[in-house]
Amino acid sequence: MYSARLDWKIPPNRFSLIIECKRRAGRHLIDLSESNPTRVGIENPGILTALLDPASLLYEPHPRGLLKARESIAGYYADRGEIVDPERIWITSSTSEAYSLLIKLLADPGCELLVPRPSYPLLDFLAALDGVQVVSYPLIVNAAGWHIDISALRANITDRTRAVVIVSPNNPTGSYLRRKDRDAVIEICCRHDLAIIVDEVFFDYVLDLSDGDAGSLLAANDALCFVVSGISKVLALPQMKLGWIAANVPRHRWTEFGNSLDLVADTYLSASAPVQHATPVWMNSRREIQEGIRERLLRNLSELKAMERRAPWKMLPIEGGWYAVLEFNPVRESEEETILALAEQDEVIVHPGFFFDFPHDGFLVVSLLPDPGEFVEGMNRIGRRLAG
Ligand SMILES: Cc1ncc(COP(=O)(O)O)c(C=O)c1O
Repeated sequence: MYSARLDWKIPPNRFSLIIECKRRAGRHLIDLSESNPTRVGIENPGILTALLDPASLLYEPHPRGLLKARESIAGYYADRGEIVDPERIWITSSTSEAYSLLIKLLADPGCELLVPRPSYPLLDFLAALDGVQVVSYPLIVNAAGWHIDISALRANITDRTRAVVIVSPNNPTGSYLRRKDRDAVIEICCRHDLAIIVDEVFFDYVLDLSDGDAGSLLAANDALCFVVSGISKVLALPQMKLGWIAANVPRHRWTEFGNSLDLVADTYLSASAPVQHATPVWMNSRREIQEGIRERLLRNLSELKAMERRAPWKMLPIEGGWYAVLEFNPVRESEEETILALAEQDEVIVHPGFFFDFPHDGFLVVSLLPDPGEFVEGMNRIGRRLAG
């Protein structure tokens, strides 16, 4: 009856049942998994007025999206010091859709994508819905920070591999793609004729990158590289639904790739006219919007740093993004028991490391976006629980 792609058998788990019961009983839960910027009390005045452009009354379909929106995205890259031709940008309705179009472009059912571990859980679903498999490659952390396990990545390439996915900075580890890893990935992908899909939704939220070593792939000359991003994070406007693909394809392959991606994109044309017309206006307020988010992230991060010395957890190195990863000793209570007890007894919602496929038990992932008062109270409750 249904497609085998939907065969995930996800039962309603105890965690969501506890949260549902609490909410039904009218209890206030401190949600440290909240990563929706429209729900954490950060104001964005003026956002709605940009939607009133009368030009939106006209339907002007184009596989890559409206030129003025693509130009404003190219302007965003120019501000970052990267030259991107608007003709090499495809507008989508979200970053998720950008992934989906690229999978359709690059892979047949049964092919494989190499994805980082730990990372963003939606990658598994996005791949499965397009009939492809994910094979993971590890991210490793040590005193120097995070890096890709390049030999494991190389060893996991098969004749079905079509692309390597990189999330920079990664969700939830906050790790940027470093130049050394970037060069190694480019070399491997060129040698095996693999595409590189780089998710840069959190790129602008550098929290600590003292050596300025975040390497973008937009200027990678020989690789087939597709950068995906969107306004859900760049402008903290997830409700407006606009993402994009910025393609960096070697010149001799450009016509082949451009025409094929046009064909895929032309089948959906899902970004709405009002949102595309408003995007250049919103992009002009990018700095203010991001400043509000960054202030919040830094404030909560400094609270965490102040707590860390006496806390029963240790924060993993964090360079950017909207999350912090806390490592604890799971001997008394496992990760799962901890998040269940936190929800049931302490009324705090927090994500366990296994949501993100951490290699072993003993991690909690907290969002740095919540209201600082709630954040500190939630972290105090977590500290008390982990201390026993
Ligand atoms: C790493 C990463 N990529 C993509 C997305 C989804 O972005 P969009 O809302 O544009 O689909 C998210 C959402 O949290 C994310 O964390």
